[in-house]
Amino acid sequence: MLTSLPDALMALPHRRDVPFSRLTTLGVGGLCRWLLEPTTEAEAAACVKALHREGLPLRILGGGSNLLVLGDIETPVVRLALPKDCHREGTRLTVSASHGHIRLSDTAADLGLSGMEYASGIPGSCGGALIMNAGAHGRELVEVLASFRYLTPEGDLVEQRPEPGQFAYRWSFLRGAHLALGCTVDLVEGDREAIRATMDTARARRKGSQPLGSRNAGCIFKNPPGDSAGRLIDAAGLKGHRLGQAEVSAVHANFLLNLGSASPTEFKALMDLVRERVEAVHGIRLEPEVEMWLPENNA
Ligand code: EPU
Repeated sequence: MLTSLPDALMALPHRRDVPFSRLTTLGVGGLCRWLLEPTTEAEAAACVKALHREGLPLRILGGGSNLLVLGDIETPVVRLALPKDCHREGTRLTVSASHGHIRLSDTAADLGLSGMEYASGIPGSCGGALIMNAGAHGRELVEVLASFRYLTPEGDLVEQRPEPGQFAYRWSFLRGAHLALGCTVDLVEGDREAIRATMDTARARRKGSQPLGSRNAGCIFKNPPGDSAGRLIDAAGLKGHRLGQAEVSAVHANFLLNLGSASPTEFKALMDLVRERVEAVHGIRLEPEVEMWLPENNA
């Protein structure tokens, strides 16, 4: 167990033994032993450089809305606490990684800028959205992404435009050890009422088709090419299936719910059961879409 961190890290804002139930929307997991919370880009760079210098690994946490933690995590976790303001220049909006993704789509709508409507129901931070190229309704962040800033695993700052091969369906090359710091989206002038109407329609559709009132981490599995994981799980007869406090949503089968105090073991067992049943029934192996953190002794 890591009982202390180097001075350079202890000097940064940090907390110890924070339950993942408070750090993730799903609420499954044990304790985050070391939570480092840089409040400026300079602190973030100092943090990543110090970890790199000491040869310590790190994990990066955003809004925790797409994360399943399967136990206590000893590895230092970096969660940026950067200012959340939004800077406008013409049709471009620049935000830090800590800015809310839904909030950015709301701001764009208020300003009569179109292009972020897809994000109206996708929770989490803009950093998380960038790292996983968040999307919905056939649209995704990379389509409006003008540039983005991040720290390399060595702590060097890079600002660049997206390049071919860097982003794909629910994936970016940043995943892993790059720390997203912020992004600029390039939108188009639009009609405020029409933008709001599109967002309201999407929200209403989501409200009717997704279990928004329960603790969840969004869709658990990726959609296989040309199909929907939710449809496949549903057709395998698993809606409402429960293991302890973990349940396949009866509303949308690709949402697995924490009914209150689901343990990591229960939750993982339900995921495995779903994968096995879908493979047996449909011959398709589902791949997790949710990010999973295993405790170091299991990794
Ligand atoms: N369906 C079922 N049963 C279910 C769920 C869905 O039969 O239990 C059917 C629906 O009736 C529909 C089809 O499957 O015909 C597709 O369902 P839906 O429109 O809900 O879309 P999805 O493919 O299941 C994707 C994204 C969601 C996003 C919605 C809306 C993935 C893995 N999922 O879901 O994203 O909100 O489209 O755009 O890409 C997420 O990323 O966490 C997420 C929830």
